[in-house]
Amino acid sequence: MTMNTSRRTLLRSAFVGTAGTALGLTGFGGLNPIAAAAEAPKRARTVAEVIRMTPVEIARESEVVQTAYKVLLKSASQLKDAKVRETVTAILKNPDVTLDLSREADLVKTLKAAGYLGAKGDTVFPPIEKSGRSPQPTWSAPGSGYGSHHAYPGGLVVHVALNVLSAEKLLQSYADNNRCYLSVDDAVGGELLHDLHKPWVFAWQKDNSCRKEETLAMTGEHHVLSLAESMHRGLPATFCTAQACAHEHPGSQKGLELMVGWIKCAAIIAGVDPVEKGYLAKDGKTLPEPFRSEGFVVHLADHDWVLSVPACQWTVEALKRLMREKYGVDAEKRPADFNALRNYVLANLTAMRLHAIRSSEGEEAFAADVARVLKA
Ligand SMILES: [Fe+2]
Ligand SMILES: [Fe+2]
Repeated sequence: MTMNTSRRTLLRSAFVGTAGTALGLTGFGGLNPIAAAAEAPKRARTVAEVIRMTPVEIARESEVVQTAYKVLLKSASQLKDAKVRETVTAILKNPDVTLDLSREADLVKTLKAAGYLGAKGDTVFPPIEKSGRSPQPTWSAPGSGYGSHHAYPGGLVVHVALNVLSAEKLLQSYADNNRCYLSVDDAVGGELLHDLHKPWVFAWQKDNSCRKEETLAMTGEHHVLSLAESMHRGLPATFCTAQACAHEHPGSQKGLELMVGWIKCAAIIAGVDPVEKGYLAKDGKTLPEPFRSEGFVVHLADHDWVLSVPACQWTVEALKRLMREKYGVDAEKRPADFNALRNYVLANLTAMRLHAIRSSEGEEAFAADVARVLKA
């Protein structure tokens, strides 16, 4: 049986109505604006129409994506320090690269000697125009690599919106439970910018997938490049170190060493001295002590990927079957067309929503939700 929206609503109320109410979870009618945008009536497009759309057009048209982007701008508008607020908002609105791209040849030598380049060879920067113009807006980038989490146009803002709302709630819980009042600017601001260069690193390709990421200083290059951009734009040291924690925290010696490497590598790229700027302690071997808590909030709130990586992978596999059986598009034979359809469906409904429907209500309900946006 296909589950319609009203039956799903009742089911959701049943879950939310018991433990959910006590926990302050919102049921139908109290959905946050991103979930409400996915739930709202949709215009179903044909396969032929979708195949003609670019990833940027798909993201521009998606209510879910544009709502998530507005959530980020709203959160940025609530940051306390005027300069931090302006810088974070400016980056979200225009993720152009301000790093000095003309220094690449020198950077290659320095970073290679320091052991940060790894297999990257003779480049530091992903392909980009000399002007530093971002290949796309913040709101059309995928959330990560094409085999990873939120891998669809607008996935980045959907990912970061959940992270930022998680960071805000975590800050509130630490305040309520522990009288621990942390910096909103560092924790929420660091979260807002933690993946700021994904529009550059994950540029869309001709086959409607995105660029494959390289590693830099032993992590995804987007992390170090995003950190370098924040340093170059003059964001405070406590902000930058909090942002640097997205991929690891300094609570273990190994984590600390990785973080120090990212900060050193990013500072070289940004052309600043990490000790003088206060990102590192005077000996240059550790973060300023005692370690601040805000970075841990950034780290914890970025952990959506634990679920969203497999949820996206499982949903893409389910979409491959559905597209072949119901829509006549075989991903093996027509990869670019399948990618366009996958991008469209996920940008409008999200991989997390579709996985939740498929895992709790079954394949038919999953197919019915896809049919809200795509005509057979
Ligand atoms: Fe990241
Ligand atoms: Fe992230």
